[in-house]
Amino acid sequence: MPQIIDGKAISATIKDELKIKVEELSAKGIKVCLAVIQVGNDPASSVYVGNKKKACAYIGIDSLAYELPEETTQEELLKLIKELNDKEEVNGILVQLPLPKHIDEDEIIRAIDPKKDVDGFHPQSVGALCIGQPGFVSCTPAGIIQLLKRSDIEIAGKECVVIGRSNIVGKPMALLLLRENGTVTVAHSKTKNLKETAKRADILVVAVGKPKMITREYVKEGAVVIDVGIHRNESNKLCGDVDYDDVAPVCSAITPVPGGVGPMTIAMLMHNCVEAGDIR
Ligand code: GUN
Repeated sequence: MPQIIDGKAISATIKDELKIKVEELSAKGIKVCLAVIQVGNDPASSVYVGNKKKACAYIGIDSLAYELPEETTQEELLKLIKELNDKEEVNGILVQLPLPKHIDEDEIIRAIDPKKDVDGFHPQSVGALCIGQPGFVSCTPAGIIQLLKRSDIEIAGKECVVIGRSNIVGKPMALLLLRENGTVTVAHSKTKNLKETAKRADILVVAVGKPKMITREYVKEGAVVIDVGIHRNESNKLCGDVDYDDVAPVCSAITPVPGGVGPMTIAMLMHNCVEAGDIR
């Protein structure tokens, strides 16, 4: 059977490391503070925001919660972001996505000071990642690199195939794997021969957003399979983009859903917040 990559345990270790770091900063008189903005009350967003606040409390990061009504205007949201950019005690600003349809998400992300862009979504952060300069990195792909490294899975020289090209996961994932000296292919919905392309992978990262789409026909014997998807199936059970029961017997390592990639996103958000506080 494959190695099960335990994201819950690895994220707990990272959070404990960060807790110590926050205590050390605190002893030097440095406080870390994250501002979290949610517009409207999408239930999934409320769960994510609640988990982020809980993680802050555990690690010792102050969190400021801004729960704004659905009708909030672009101007009102921009004004709040400007205030938070100017507030010295705030180190990180997170605007929970998706935003209501009447709000221009790109303009909101651009308004965040890149020094406080703990989500790593600002074009300056993405550009810095692209050319190998320091900056915040999108949390889910950064978490996947940690999962691989902390599971002693070598990336350098490996064939890495990322299925999915979103700005939040697929594209930064490809750049990070490249930074680790992987040989990287990005596949997507228009890729011809997706099965053959995926089957080349020593490390296969799946972020397609379709429940159980990836079966063993897409996976080379002995590959490492990282599943970014999270869905509820017909019986309300969580599942990923990978058909775990079908794929697990043919791979060398695999992330479960839940308990794989999911917990790493918040751990890396906390990592970015601590970094934002530390460089002040
Ligand atoms: N919505 C779903 N995932 C994320 C995330 O990582 N950051 C933000 N800001 N919104 C999200």
